[in-house]
Amino acid sequence: MTQHTRAKYQPSGQLQFGIFFQGVNSGTIWKAAESGSQTDFESFRRIAQTAERGLFAAFFLGEGLRLREHLGRSHELDVAGRPDAQTMLAALASVTSNIGLVATQNTTYNDPADLAQRLSSLDLLSGGRAAWNIVTTDNAWTGANFRRGGYLDHADRYTHAEAFVETAKRIWDAHDPVSGQWRRVVNEGQHYTVDVTPRLPRSTQYRPVLFQAGDSPEGRNFAARQADVIFSAHPKLDDALTFRSDIVERTLKAGRNANDVKIMPASEFILAATPQEALEKKAWVRSLQIGPQQAIAYLEQFWGRELAEYDPDGPLPDIDPVVEETSETRGSGFHGAKARQLADQWRAEAKEKGLSIRQFVSAKTSRVDATFNGSYSEVADRLMEYARTGAVDGFNISPWLIPTGLDDIVNHLVPALQERGVYPREYAGSTLRENLGLATPERPAAESADAEAAPSSATPEARVQADG
Ligand SMILES: Cc1cc2nc3c(=O)[nH]c(=O)nc-3n(C[C@H](O)[C@H](O)[C@H](O)COP(=O)(O)O)c2cc1C
Repeated sequence: MTQHTRAKYQPSGQLQFGIFFQGVNSGTIWKAAESGSQTDFESFRRIAQTAERGLFAAFFLGEGLRLREHLGRSHELDVAGRPDAQTMLAALASVTSNIGLVATQNTTYNDPADLAQRLSSLDLLSGGRAAWNIVTTDNAWTGANFRRGGYLDHADRYTHAEAFVETAKRIWDAHDPVSGQWRRVVNEGQHYTVDVTPRLPRSTQYRPVLFQAGDSPEGRNFAARQADVIFSAHPKLDDALTFRSDIVERTLKAGRNANDVKIMPASEFILAATPQEALEKKAWVRSLQIGPQQAIAYLEQFWGRELAEYDPDGPLPDIDPVVEETSETRGSGFHGAKARQLADQWRAEAKEKGLSIRQFVSAKTSRVDATFNGSYSEVADRLMEYARTGAVDGFNISPWLIPTGLDDIVNHLVPALQERGVYPREYAGSTLRENLGLATPERPAAESADAEAAPSSATPEARVQADG
């Protein structure tokens, strides 16, 4: 590859789709007559097979290690509980044949030797379709599950994650199918002390594909060094282009090629045959996403008190919050704004726009930037611009309804994109790596058993003992 092509990002002119099965959130409607169950295998089978019919590259499962809480109780309006990602993906491997199977797994509470083995198992069982969406998930509330509340602050999280991933990669590099030899992986780093004799050979795609989700500068640098694909939070065209430039710059600084890291932002599609129908459908979807109880519960998070006596179709509460700082439902993130100030600001905003509680909350929570709303052909035309400019490599779609929420996309949008020449007409191969157009990793030469740790990335930890 010449210096020029290495340093300049070349749009492929193509788009791919993934599906992000979130499980717990306000974006998926779990309480409508058409809704499936988030624990029933049938929901997963139905939507994964629909995605595969639409030639989707990947099926993603998010990870939530603790039920969300609201005013000190489990948040019943959210969905309580979802099956373990790797167990579910292993089951899905047996009813699908091409789609990639992506498990979101954190680096803060797992162990590299164990996780590498489990992901390798999924990779082998699925014929080279496994991927790992690397997240760090460090909040103290989740950590308490593991008796590690408050474990690792933000600054240490990615150093730890990098040591984790480096160790896992060395485990995946352990087997040489040509010589039949195995390396023992010895790690005496700051974060791990392990002495692993890997137990599984490589899969047909060498090792699981690495996705990353996390948007801080540290998260982006980590992705630029380690990831094959970023699951981003930047779907809007201008924002996506800025994000692409930023990632290209970081990727080049990390010594990789400009095209080495793919980007697939989170997104939502509400489509219909005509623009008018699509608008009506959006209003219907939003009314189900934010029902009266959800609207009140949303404000309660910021007021820190019960607001059940307020009419969801009336104005915002006139009483003040009881908390000093706002804290969104535990497990959803932390806002940290001054509560009274925020309440005053929101009351003024709702009054000025003439919005009821429900309308206001719906506007606040709808992912305007992430929503593609319109007729099939309108949206297909909009997506062409992403393919042309290379703003993204595809979209990771969160269906608003499960299990039927991808039907429209697969039946109408995919053919419209195929006609426009920007979407695959068949799977490129049988592995996820082939289908995403990713190069096969090169197995690094063995380091001397006595050598100091000297692997490829910025925060190396592990070393390997020579082959044999
Ligand atoms: C699009 C996207 C999806 C994510 N999905 C998950 C998830 O399913 N489970 C999880 O624990 N964290 C998830 N994360 C959060 C990451 O774990 C990360 O901890 C968080 O973004 C904070 O890291 P940062 O400071 O680098 O952004 C996601 C992040 C993004 C941007």
